[in-house]
Order: sequence, then C-alpha cells, then structure tokens
Amino acid sequence: MSIHDRPARNGPSRRRALGAALALAAFPAAAADVSLRRLAADKGLWFGAAVEPQHLRQDAAYAELVRRQCAVLTPENALKWDHLRPAPDKFDFQGADAIVRQARAQGARVHGHCLVWHEALPRWMPPTLTASEAEALLAGHISQVAGRYAGRIASWDVVNEPIERAHGRPDGLRRSPWFEALGPDFIELSLRLARRADPRARLAIADYGLEYDDVPWMVEKRASTLALLAHLKRRGAPLDAFAIQGHLLGDRGPAFGAGLRGFLRDLARLGLEVWVTELDVLDTPMPADPVTRDAQVAEIYGAFLRTVLAEPAVRMVNTWGLSDRYTSKSFLHPRPDRQPVRPLPFDAELQPKPAAQALAAAFRSARRR
Ligand code: XIL
Repeated sequence: MSIHDRPARNGPSRRRALGAALALAAFPAAAADVSLRRLAADKGLWFGAAVEPQHLRQDAAYAELVRRQCAVLTPENALKWDHLRPAPDKFDFQGADAIVRQARAQGARVHGHCLVWHEALPRWMPPTLTASEAEALLAGHISQVAGRYAGRIASWDVVNEPIERAHGRPDGLRRSPWFEALGPDFIELSLRLARRADPRARLAIADYGLEYDDVPWMVEKRASTLALLAHLKRRGAPLDAFAIQGHLLGDRGPAFGAGLRGFLRDLARLGLEVWVTELDVLDTPMPADPVTRDAQVAEIYGAFLRTVLAEPAVRMVNTWGLSDRYTSKSFLHPRPDRQPVRPLPFDAELQPKPAAQALAAAFRSARRR
C-alpha cells in the first residue's frame, strides 16, 4: 500500500519530505533501524506509545512501525468512557480488545488509559450525579473494565487529571463531576476498586502541567500533587506510580532542572514509580521551516528526558502517538499557517526524525534500572 492510499490526517508535503531527507542525512546509518523499545529495555525502561485501533487495522506500514518500536501500547481513546459505553447498560470493548490483541502479538504490555476522568464522558451521563449514583457508576465501570482485562492490562491511569488549582480549592482538587458527587474520597475509592478488580495491575494517578520549573502555576501544582499523593499513601490507598503526562511546549525554553528533578525525587520518596505517559512536543508555535522545527522539537525531548531519566524511579516513557501521520495535535492544536504539525518521533512517512534520535540518545545515556 502506498502512503497515498491510506487515510492520513497529516498528509505529506514536498517541503516536509525534504526536511525528512535532510534530517536523515544528518543522522546516517542508525536512523532507519533505531529501535526505541530495545534501547529502553537495555536500561530496564519501558518505551511505548498511544495508539488507535483503526490505525493499526487500516495501515500495515504504521502497524509495523508500532511493532518494532513499542514495548507498551496505550489506547489513546479506546478505553475512555465515551468509547466503551454507548449506553448505560452496554459496553463495547471492540477497539480496546483489538489493541490488547495487537500488544500480545508483538510482545508488548498495555498501559490502560484511563478509568476515571472528567472528560470523554458519555452523553447519556447526567452532568450532575448524586453520591450514590456516582459510586454505583464508578464501581460498575471499574470492576467491569479493569476486571475484563485483569492479567492483560499491566498498568492503569486510574484517576486522570484530578488537580486543577484554578478551581480555587485550598487542596487544589479539580471540581470534576466525580468530585462534586463524592468529594475528595472518589480518588481513594477508585484506586481501591481498581485493585480489587485486578490485584496484579500497577495503579497510577496521572496529571499534566508539572514539567516546567519556570511556570509558576506548574510549580504550585507540583505541591498540590505531592500533598494529594502523600495523603493517599498515609491512608494506605493502593497506589504504585505517578504518571506525569509530559505534554511539552514549543514556545518556551526547556526549563527542566532542579525543580523537576526534586519533584520526581519527592515522588520516589513516597514509594512511587514515575511514568511518563503522554510525551509529545507542541510545535504549533514554532517556525514553519521543518528542519528548524524538527531540531527544536528534538532539543526539547532531549532536555526533558535527560532530566527525568536521571531519576531511577522513572520506569516507563510513552509518547502520545508515534508518528506525525496520526497525532491528535493535528486537530486539537493545528498551526495557523496550516502546515502539518510534527510533534512526534517519527514523521508522516514513518521515518525517524531528530526527535527519535533524541529519545534514542537519552535512552543510551540513561543508567540501568
Ligand atoms: C486526547 C486524544 O489524543 C484525542 O484523540 C481526543 O480527541 C481527546 O483526548 N490528556 C489526556 C489524553 O489524558 O486522554 C488526551 O487525549 C490528551 C490530554
């Protein structure tokens, strides 16, 4: 199948193809056969990416890239409530099942994303819930979903994005529908339900906006996050890891220094592993020229990974997509100049970009876990 036959959200352009060729020329030999999963595994790290079942099904060349590069598959949307639950009493596991099958076939594990979130809720769900409605929904959902995949999904983002300081609470908790119905206890409840449904799965809380040392609200959010996690640990809640999403920004310098390092160390001190689960770089505000842009994107990936991989608690790195051929940035954050976005390690022709080389270099120079 030629690349022109398949559905592409982010189709090729001559200019970008030239950029890719130049990038390859700058990184000879190794470029074409870099294997991020192998380089990561050499250091006791799991590398993977978020994927959509329809792309794996419809695009054999892309599926082959995923097979070669990923030791972890994260369903990008297939495990969210709006995908799994077309009606209150109906579950549709087709998409998620396909990813779990693909992972098994390629010897990868699955990272489950996500059991409890304030977004991607089905239309049938009322906007406000009573405490007993919310509790019944969470209990039913978590036992059905985590229970179905027990032994097949290795790890879960149990609660996604529980902190939003802009909502004004002293503890920084987000006023999500789950919070409004159940108060702060919905988090511990969700963790306990997940542990019960699959005692072997590793359980995480996930959030974004924690990466930059020079963004005051992010620095404050680190403190709220640590307070929440320390509270959960004190209560004996089943929590194995914290998932830092890693959506990096393209319009500022890579301020990943002592503050980030200290945050990761504080997480480790709480007895938590750290997983980077949604790594990508927003290139929307960057210069149009693809060669310049690719170099800047690679620099940001490299700077972030050098800092986080210095902390031995970090065990998994997932990018949010693998190739620019399929990236939600193309519709969530399109460029004003309408040039295709290039946020991921592989380009729309499935070739490694400088970003892939930056990941490879970071894995090569990481210490073994
Ligand atoms: C995004 C997906 O990438 C999109 O395809 C979808 O339309 C919206 O959700 N933080 C998360 C992810 O935890 O679930 C989000 O994924 C991106 C931000």
